[in-house]
Amino acid sequence: SVLEMEVEQIKKGSYDHFMQKEIHEQPHSLTTTMRGRLKDGGILLGGLKEHLRTIRRSRRVVFIGCGTSYNAALAARPFVEELTGIPVTMEVASDLLDRQGPIYREDTAVFVSQSGETADTLLALDYALENGALCVGVTNTVGSTLSRRTHCGVHINAGCEIGVASTKAYTSQIVAMAMMALAIGSDQISTQARRDAIISGLSSLPRNVSEVLKLDVDMKELASSLVDSESLLVFGRGYNYATALEGALKVKEVALMHSEGMLAGEMKHGPLALVDENLPIIVIATRDACFSKQQSVIQQLLSRKGRLIVMCSKGDASAVCPNGSCRVIEVPEVADCLQPVINIIPLQLLAYHLTVLRGFDVDQPRNLAKSVTTQ
Ligand code: AGP
Repeated sequence: SVLEMEVEQIKKGSYDHFMQKEIHEQPHSLTTTMRGRLKDGGILLGGLKEHLRTIRRSRRVVFIGCGTSYNAALAARPFVEELTGIPVTMEVASDLLDRQGPIYREDTAVFVSQSGETADTLLALDYALENGALCVGVTNTVGSTLSRRTHCGVHINAGCEIGVASTKAYTSQIVAMAMMALAIGSDQISTQARRDAIISGLSSLPRNVSEVLKLDVDMKELASSLVDSESLLVFGRGYNYATALEGALKVKEVALMHSEGMLAGEMKHGPLALVDENLPIIVIATRDACFSKQQSVIQQLLSRKGRLIVMCSKGDASAVCPNGSCRVIEVPEVADCLQPVINIIPLQLLAYHLTVLRGFDVDQPRNLAKSVTTQ
């Protein structure tokens, strides 16, 4: 009705779409995710406190989710392993169910879901409960089925997300899981300095997110140069393998353009055959332990005349692309394990602008629902 349309417009404020509003809201949503939880240099997660000892004793952490929520867990995997020392395995909810994969009493199963109502994730939860695992929920929805049926958990408090494409929930999920990893690992003296550095990185994260959002105009321009492309590859590794998958998921689901996120280490095992002067390839090469490996990936792509767009840390343009033949996206550098929160934002903006330029429905992509409540 006309009234409903007007209410919609009021909720969008000065933005044209919810996805756009939610992307630009991230400095605020991340602040609310952390509010009251960074206490005196430590981490306080009320919903987990009583279970930390059990989690520390578990033999494995299993992350379970779908789509963007799975990707957020994938982004969390390296720092959960690092800070807790517990092996982490990843499960797409439907695949765990298809395989009836082994889940044990000694496992901590962490379910990640923005809505808390995704059917595949809830069925995987039933399965893990039956198998006796400790079940932890990470959700944006207070009172959701997920938050009611898990033993304990963390609300990400990103605020209501309306756009079908998940944006602010993704970054808040990563931050919530970073706090979770810090809390689980807080009994380890050897990683104290590392934890302090990450906590200080968390405090300055909203400011750095505001900074990276200034790339909006550049991403709109990049989108106009890619608008007629048939396909877009995104290469990442380490902390930013998830960024590659999530960036590609955004592009395919809203801009309706074929896009694949790929592990850069796998490039020479197949994807390299696709490279020519037409196919646009985004390479994520911000500073971390994988930087020099990404530099050589860029060299190999350039020597095959690849059409490259390189995302790098501020000031690194000539380090990643000495001959100046790639397009460069420079982003603020933050603690390596938090860099995925920064790096996804230009890709969210790119997907948004590509969608608008291609004339598709941003907030309600073809064939998709916000919450997939059927199997
Ligand atoms: C994200 O942009 C997608 N719309 C989709 O992959 C989504 O993340 C997935 O369906 C899981 O939803 P949930 O987080 O509510 O469980």
